[in-house]
Amino acid sequence: MNQHTRIEAPLPFIDVAAQRRRLGTRIDDAINRVLTHCQFIMGPEVAALERDLAAFCGARHAIGVASGTDALVLVLMAYGIGRGDAVLCPAFTFSATAESVALVGATPVFVDVLEETFNLDPASLVRGIETARRLDLAPRAVMAVDLFGLPADYEAIGRIAQQHGLKVIDDAAQSFGATYHNRKIGMLGDVTATSFFPAKPLGCYGEGGAVFTDDDDLAALVKSLRNHGAGEDRYDNVRIGINGRLDTIQAAVLIEKLKIFPDEIAARDRAAQRYNELLGDIATVPQVPSGLGSVWAQYTIRLPAGQRDSFAATLRAQGIPTAVYYPKPTHRQTAYRDYPLADGGLPVTDRLADEVISLPMHAYLDEATQDRIVKAVRAALRG
Ligand SMILES: Cc1ncc(COP(=O)(O)O)c(C=O)c1O
Repeated sequence: MNQHTRIEAPLPFIDVAAQRRRLGTRIDDAINRVLTHCQFIMGPEVAALERDLAAFCGARHAIGVASGTDALVLVLMAYGIGRGDAVLCPAFTFSATAESVALVGATPVFVDVLEETFNLDPASLVRGIETARRLDLAPRAVMAVDLFGLPADYEAIGRIAQQHGLKVIDDAAQSFGATYHNRKIGMLGDVTATSFFPAKPLGCYGEGGAVFTDDDDLAALVKSLRNHGAGEDRYDNVRIGINGRLDTIQAAVLIEKLKIFPDEIAARDRAAQRYNELLGDIATVPQVPSGLGSVWAQYTIRLPAGQRDSFAATLRAQGIPTAVYYPKPTHRQTAYRDYPLADGGLPVTDRLADEVISLPMHAYLDEATQDRIVKAVRAALRG
């Protein structure tokens, strides 16, 4: 077969198997310990992981929960946010951000994002608060999503939130491990919710999530709510909660994965910087504002509208997967299209939805593989 027709093996978009090989028997041993003690619900690994997570990010409390979605729902429940309340959130994110708001009976008010970072636009946030008030909704909180692993602008968001009496909830499902001016995700909002979905920068082998806060009362409420609203007496539930506990086996997996996480964050950053160097002259590549560190949940470039489908097809034909996050922002999805938009609409969100495309990104992306991707990307863009 000649050089031009040789089909190379398809690449993974995220190489979970490479990480599995690196961790080897450490994971098997950790799971086996749970299989031996049989405390599958709230076993000792859950508390051990919570201590490790809190130490990792510097938050006073880390609370393991069943998923990133539950983390958001539990936080909203703990704040008593519900009917008649508005929560400001971006629409350029995974649907679970607004879903959690709707699930507690409150109204998501969609806010636009910034062109450069894809994160919440503070000016649109102010307009969204006005929109909520005009609709007779009480603005209670803002959900700052750290899209694709990059922290949002917490200084600006915090200032606006303080002025208007809003809680800052960091939807850090994609950004655990990222940094903001020497502070880690987990300490930036009043409370932080993350996800351990397997594809996340720190992922488990099933569903999982966590809530972080320095607020003792809020932490106690979240712990009760994740366990059906339990009080001191386990047979007297003192509030309505949910079953939102983190599984012990997932905690055991995460304890091992957290040990290699700093090294993986550095590897992800190296890969992203290298993509930027090799593609910066031909595509709109992501920029990280100074003082911030991304964990690169996605490496996302922008192409002129209309080029994306053929670009993806050209790469796919060479075994290189791409993904589009998010082709349909939440405010245009069937279940969400009747919720209000901040005055001025979401023009940046709408534009990004037509232009973004993500390339393979993970901690095990070696230079030869990355070169293969870069070569294909450059050829597709030139073509
Ligand atoms: C921004 C954002 N929020 C919330 C979630 C929900 O997390 P989970 O899938 O663990 O429920 C995700 C996960 O995909 C997400 O990306």
